[in-house]
Amino acid sequence: MKFFIDTANLDQIKEAQDLGILDGVTTNPSLMAKEGIKGAENIKKHYVDICEIVDGDVSAEVIATDFDGMISEGLELAALHNQIVVKVPCTKNGIKAVKYLSTKGIRTNCTLIFSVGQALLAAKAGATYVSPFVGRLDDICTDGIDLIRQIVDMNSYYGFETQVLAASVRHTMHMVQCIEAGADVTTSPLNAITGLLNHPLTDKGLAQFLADYNKLNG
Ligand code: G3P
Repeated sequence: MKFFIDTANLDQIKEAQDLGILDGVTTNPSLMAKEGIKGAENIKKHYVDICEIVDGDVSAEVIATDFDGMISEGLELAALHNQIVVKVPCTKNGIKAVKYLSTKGIRTNCTLIFSVGQALLAAKAGATYVSPFVGRLDDICTDGIDLIRQIVDMNSYYGFETQVLAASVRHTMHMVQCIEAGADVTTSPLNAITGLLNHPLTDKGLAQFLADYNKLNG
């Protein structure tokens, strides 16, 4: 299972990379705006900066919504660095763009997936990743993890190679549920990943080991 971090914040990306378990980064226009990255050239430079920190895939999202615009932006983003995966929304033009880009050997992440039908279209178009949004479904009282399970089952039933990238993963319980549901990848904030470390028996056990050592060696 792969862990991606869902941020455009370079400090957090470095911290996650230093943990030694990071497999990639996802960004979106909202996350870039949150870091105050604006202007086409600054945005492109920021993607390259991210690629230079991580060993792994970096999703960079197109802004255009028309087919020609998606293709020209996608080609430009893909040319920035060999770690870039072009992120495209799951619309009619987006599916056509995923098909075009994957035919050209460019890796894609089809985003804003909220149904198994959308995931099927993205997989048929050759998407490298599909990004179902877990948290945003939970927000509207719909089980986001159930969608992960459905897409994992569909991919396995039909033999699609598209990887299920669980997105909008907001906390550690989501991470655990995504593991149980068989997601290929999760993308989340750093604290959802580091939360996996926490167990009171680990803390208690370590305190006991150190106390016993210090009794004799103190
Ligand atoms: O990966 C998609 C993600 O950035 C959306 O997360 O928390 O805004 O729903 P959220």
